[in-house]
Amino acid sequence: MIHAADSDTSHYAALTSLDLAPLWEYQTNLFPREPSRRALAFLWRYDDIRPQLLYFGGALSMEKAERRVLMLINPGLREQAATVANIYAGFQLILPGETARAHRHSANAFRFIVEGQGASTTVDGEKTSMKCGDLLLTPGWAWHDHIHEGDGPMIWLDGLDFPLINVLGVQFFEIFSERAQSLSRSVDRASRLYAHARLNPVIQHATRAAIGHASPITNYPWERTEAALHSIGFDVEGADRTGVVLDYVNPLNGGAVLPTINCRIVHLPPGFDGEAQRRTASEIVYVVRGSGTTIIDGQRFDWKAHDIIAVPIWSTYRHLNPSSSEDVVLFTYSDAPVLHALGLYREDAGHPEFAKVAP
Ligand SMILES: [Fe+2]
Repeated sequence: MIHAADSDTSHYAALTSLDLAPLWEYQTNLFPREPSRRALAFLWRYDDIRPQLLYFGGALSMEKAERRVLMLINPGLREQAATVANIYAGFQLILPGETARAHRHSANAFRFIVEGQGASTTVDGEKTSMKCGDLLLTPGWAWHDHIHEGDGPMIWLDGLDFPLINVLGVQFFEIFSERAQSLSRSVDRASRLYAHARLNPVIQHATRAAIGHASPITNYPWERTEAALHSIGFDVEGADRTGVVLDYVNPLNGGAVLPTINCRIVHLPPGFDGEAQRRTASEIVYVVRGSGTTIIDGQRFDWKAHDIIAVPIWSTYRHLNPSSSEDVVLFTYSDAPVLHALGLYREDAGHPEFAKVAP
């Protein structure tokens, strides 16, 4: 006589051989009560990164590297080479006289300029200069190359969505026929075209960028960002809780600058002691200026200019600026547009359970 347990065993074995699986064994893992993140809250210090980057500036030619970049890999996401779920950060170095050859890929990308001067980027035949604090967009499948005609090292933050694109399995990559593109449009054309806020031009023919839901602007220059910070100050409702938060905007639809990535500036006044918040979006924070603290799920991270902080999905965090005289400016980016598009965006702020955690 066959016992029920023996029967089960043979049936479980049969399932495996048939490439079937019993859902009841996986239920908890597949449907957790809350997001079960693998990314860790993490801080990368620019003081650690910069010397390594400069070393490879001498040791690795641009002919040997498609791009000379040090990737910021989250210890919980090593397999995907991601900084947080879905998105990535890296620091790229280009030296005087060098060209990072033209290529394109499905992944959307941006650069936020960290240091140096005299380099330029060409995106789909339109050239723009790269100055500290500028945000340059290279939407998915746009040709882009970088040329450094100035002095000294040029370093910028690269932000990409390739972890998401690779999970979806839809990445394409192509190298241009020449090392650099020839210019097919006037310098900074799109940036000038869309630089007038409430006076947007009417475009008769849809551009590739518009079709892809990316902003048509190549460069959001720092001088305009700084002018906005100066003009707005801290006289904004909620600034005492979240700081002054400014989204970089796609002028064609008022939405995020890239289909998968939202970029923003967060301005914290002296003495800022922020409200705890959490979101289903993953966020990467780059410190433009100032120094302070971020507390993520009770863990304290003290940072200063050019450091990077990873804020994983659904982690409770808040920022502090302990200085009595200096402001703090953060550049942050997240995968929020993806979550909004799929109806998966949630956020909590100011809830009693987010009682402030002592720094
Ligand atoms: Fe690229």
